[in-house]
Amino acid sequence: MTAPPRDERLDRPATSDSTARALVAAIPDPIFRIGVDGTYRGFKVDSEEDLLTPPDEVIGYSVHERLPVGVADAVLAAGRRAVSEQEPQHIEYTLEVRGETRDYEGRVVACGPDEFVFIVRDFTERTRQERELERERDFSRAVVRSTPSFLALVDTEGTLLGVNRALERAAGIPEEAWIGLPFWTLFIVEQDVERAKHDFERLRDGDAPGVVEYEHVAPDGERLVVDWTATIVHDAEGAPRFLLCGLDITARKQVEEEIRRSRARIVSAGDAERKRLERNLHDGAQQNLVSVSHAVHLALRELRSDPDRAEQHLDRALEELTTAHEELRELARGLHPQLLTLQGLGAAVRALAGRAPIPVTVVMVDDGQRWPPLVESAAYFVVSEALTNVLKYARASSATVRVAPRDDVLVVEVSDDGCGGARPEVGSGLGGLRDRVEALDGTFELDSPPGAGTRVHAALPLAAEP
Ligand SMILES: Nc1ncnc2c1ncn2[C@@H]1O[C@H](COP(=O)(O)OP(=O)(O)O)[C@@H](O)[C@H]1O
Ligand SMILES: [Mg+2]
Repeated sequence: MTAPPRDERLDRPATSDSTARALVAAIPDPIFRIGVDGTYRGFKVDSEEDLLTPPDEVIGYSVHERLPVGVADAVLAAGRRAVSEQEPQHIEYTLEVRGETRDYEGRVVACGPDEFVFIVRDFTERTRQERELERERDFSRAVVRSTPSFLALVDTEGTLLGVNRALERAAGIPEEAWIGLPFWTLFIVEQDVERAKHDFERLRDGDAPGVVEYEHVAPDGERLVVDWTATIVHDAEGAPRFLLCGLDITARKQVEEEIRRSRARIVSAGDAERKRLERNLHDGAQQNLVSVSHAVHLALRELRSDPDRAEQHLDRALEELTTAHEELRELARGLHPQLLTLQGLGAAVRALAGRAPIPVTVVMVDDGQRWPPLVESAAYFVVSEALTNVLKYARASSATVRVAPRDDVLVVEVSDDGCGGARPEVGSGLGGLRDRVEALDGTFELDSPPGAGTRVHAALPLAAEP
């Protein structure tokens, strides 16, 4: 813009009266002309709302009659300074206007040897907005500082402009060591870097890839799995930036993996169990029934010619039938312990212990008490599998079974004085027990030092839901 010709500069004494009046009218702020003695000599307001008193009660009055004493003192002092020093003055003050505190700033300019002009601007709204903005900024800062999420601000090249504390801590890299580098150069594992670059290009081209998952290496060498999302934001100059927000899902991934493995174990345990049943039926009852059928055929054929032989065949058939019946009953018992359903855990555990060829001590607290069916059957299978193991592997001289409610769990413990050294990873029984117990949100512990016996400990929540 070129400067106007010298004689038209509005702040020159040559400015005409009409120009000065037009200028005053154009200024939206209230203007007061005040003598150095503090008396109002003239004013201009766009609205009477801008006055603290009716308009005919201004001129001739003193600032001390119209303003609180502190403000009046400040205005007058500034006015006298403006006149004596011939320098515009600036003051800020607050006033109670119609029950509300409002913020003002005043410009004070000398306009003669004994008077000054006082131009007032109400900046309450601006202060309010600034305070609001400041509060928002404080809030955002607090969120950024305290959130467990990882936050990184990058420019359109992917260069890091800032990271929050959570990310600094997780990566073990101080912010200063990071700023200015592309965000994929540190922290992201090697094999995910290319993908991260590609994802960022898509983001920049407006084709945001949504949630992306990268692996990272923590300072202790642990791998972290983080889900990242990006939001476009703008800096103070309006330049586009990307706010990358990461959620550490490592723990969730581990739990998911553990659940997946446990499901696989349950499925394969089910398959193994079905195979075992099939084998037992095939080798046991099915063989007996084939023999029965064979014997009955022979008996039928010889019924008339040799009744004695026929009777022998029938005797054999009867024997085989009895055996088949027992086989089937034995099988059924393994599937579903009837004693447990009918008489409860105490009776069923004592029956298991009674069948063992070594002495088994049973300690039942609250004997006779019934527990939720899922808890009873889990407890039963813990005792049954653990005792079977004792007999199969432990070479123990005795064993003890303890069942006792404690707080809101039922504690089941089976211990023996055998050889110890149990290894759940080589078999399927103990792993299956752990799955069964954990499926009820219980805890399962195995203590089996070589040479010092084995202790199987399960705690089953009594409020168990499947
Ligand atoms: N009470 C015990 N004393 C000594 N060794 C045991 C005992 N219980 C289990 N083991 C050992 O731990 C292995 C795993 O047991 P388990 O998970 O029940 O599998 P399995 O299906 O072979 O019974 C067994 O093969 C056995 O060698
Ligand atoms: Mg076993």
